[in-house]
Amino acid sequence: MDPISNTTPLILPSLLASDWSKIGSEVHRAEQAGAQWLHLDVMDGSFVDNISFGPQMVQTVRMCSGLYLDVHLMMHRADHYLERFLKAGADNITIHVEADYDTSVLDTLRRIRAAGKHAGLALHPDTPFEAVIPYAHEIDLLLIMTVVPGFGGQPFMEKETMPKLAAARDYRDAHGLKYHLEVDGGIYMYTAPIAKQHGANLFVCGTSFFGPPDAKVAIEQLAAAVAD
Ligand code: DX5
Ligand code: ZN
Repeated sequence: MDPISNTTPLILPSLLASDWSKIGSEVHRAEQAGAQWLHLDVMDGSFVDNISFGPQMVQTVRMCSGLYLDVHLMMHRADHYLERFLKAGADNITIHVEADYDTSVLDTLRRIRAAGKHAGLALHPDTPFEAVIPYAHEIDLLLIMTVVPGFGGQPFMEKETMPKLAAARDYRDAHGLKYHLEVDGGIYMYTAPIAKQHGANLFVCGTSFFGPPDAKVAIEQLAAAVAD
């Protein structure tokens, strides 16, 4: 995993909420604000009811920045497209346990790691933690969606997702595992501390980072909200 421990809180700007007409300067804005990771949301219009971008956007961002690229594949057949995302320069690739695969979730996770990248697994708010237990030893990151995947700017789903996040933390710690816990969707200064209390250390911030006029102030306030 990236040279941080799974207890180091990090704010991950989500480019879905950025101004795509100037993606290069938006990436630099995140970099200058002090972001270490960027979150890129790939949506296929089938697994989720929205379409965003594909490997070419990942490659574009890769050419703009050396930041750690956390690519979130909200798509079916991520295994069919995997090589393209690996070649595009993703550092972590997170797939959804609920999606369809030509092969399997396990095979896809192992291929990501075999390519020397970090492997993440994501859970829809409706999916119980038990669904990922078979893969717990195969992942570097577990993404607990705190909104229904597909759109930014949605409200934080606290009661549906925080018990699951705590269960994921407890399972990890009880089994000597090391996966990071990431939350994604509706993360603001007042919701981020709730997620941290339940075990999160990676906080995806789309609207809360790219919404305010001053990104540096935004990330500093968000980081302060989850500081140890
Ligand atoms: C939603 C995406 C999130 C989204 C976060 O499907 O996975 O990363 O961009 O958006 P905010 O932070 O605006 O809720
Ligand atoms: Zn995401």
